[in-house]
Amino acid sequence: MRSTRRALAAVVGAAALLVASACGTGEDDDSTAAQVEVFTWWAEGGEKAGLDALVSRFTTACPGQQFSSGAVAGGAGVNAKQVLNARLQQNDPPDVFQVHAGAELLDHIDSGQIEDLSAEFSTWGLTGTLPAGLIETITVNGKLWSVPVGVHRANVVWTNDQVLADSGILTAPKTLKEFIGNLGRLRRNGVESPLALGRDWTQLMLLESVLISDLGPKRFTGLFTGATKWEGEAVADAIDDYATVLGFSNADRDSLDWPQATRLLADGKAGYQMMGDWVGAELEAASFSGYDSFTFPGNGKAFQWLADSFALSSGAANPAGGRCWLQTVASPEGQQAFSVQKGSIPARTDAPTIGFSDYQLAASADWKSGVAVPSCAHGSACSQPWQNAANAALGAFSTSEDKAALQSALAAAAKQFVRQG
Ligand code: BGC
Repeated sequence: MRSTRRALAAVVGAAALLVASACGTGEDDDSTAAQVEVFTWWAEGGEKAGLDALVSRFTTACPGQQFSSGAVAGGAGVNAKQVLNARLQQNDPPDVFQVHAGAELLDHIDSGQIEDLSAEFSTWGLTGTLPAGLIETITVNGKLWSVPVGVHRANVVWTNDQVLADSGILTAPKTLKEFIGNLGRLRRNGVESPLALGRDWTQLMLLESVLISDLGPKRFTGLFTGATKWEGEAVADAIDDYATVLGFSNADRDSLDWPQATRLLADGKAGYQMMGDWVGAELEAASFSGYDSFTFPGNGKAFQWLADSFALSSGAANPAGGRCWLQTVASPEGQQAFSVQKGSIPARTDAPTIGFSDYQLAASADWKSGVAVPSCAHGSACSQPWQNAANAALGAFSTSEDKAALQSALAAAAKQFVRQG
């Protein structure tokens, strides 16, 4: 319980840092250790495996500190973020918490909820080892606010090769039109829901991929800076295409989280799933190997990125323990161990790639050579309130199918939440 943890941290405090403890795992009960509450939404499958890899390194690197999981399940942090915000408002913060790098940090910074980590960035070897574009997105008011652990790609389609082969589909579609053609072919062959999809935020991801295909990376990125208008024909046409693709998805989409949609794919109920590259780790964790993946058709070299990072709460009960967690997260070995399990690529460019899958090696190369575009659903492009508004608009469209209402809700959200410069 929180109060017990606070008391423990206060009593043991800095002295515990000096105690060389040999805890077996981070969850072991060590009554002499100071607890470090790490708040995430990684509660099961490939996500938990990634977290566990960090915990095991933390346990070795931070004697006297004990990992305490504050995980709240729910894809993209939909549930966790609500719990976190309530706790931050009640002045009951976890020591460190997961947050997406980029615009998602802004409200936490504005509210004084997280610490400036600029000095630690150079001590921990992060200066010069993170891509310049990533550093730019976590620099606000000239300061650095969170430690990125891994980069994921959002605009990926995952396949069930057997389901596709049964309909004679043996190659990846190159264009959106071809993709829609394949979806139709699957349905004609008796696959009722060719595209596995989940709730609101997964639908936003699908719309974003369609927008990248239809508008191109530059105009897509402009939607989140004010340079591209949400009103008008270009976005209306993309919404038409989105509605067509959505029509090939499972009818129960609004009640599913992404792992349940992945299950539809693995069970052969769907031929495709559009989802970020944490799906690879999930399929591996479920021992399903009959899959493949390709960049969303028509996205070209666009690499729609998002980065998982950790921030230190301003009111952390155990800031020394929190910093030790962040230092583990910042280390090249920590990032490698995490990514092997999680399916991401390390944020640091000097992290080893031992144990990476072919997909991860290809993603690392694409991250270097591709055109980086940010994600609204995963906070690199949109602040939290903007994400909430966009998710609500997509959720409403899923039942109403009112295209004009979707476009004006998205335009209104942009008007309300866009921040210039
Ligand atoms: C996170 C990933 C996570 C995914 C699904 C994304 O927002 O960045 O780490 O695997 O959501 O929960």
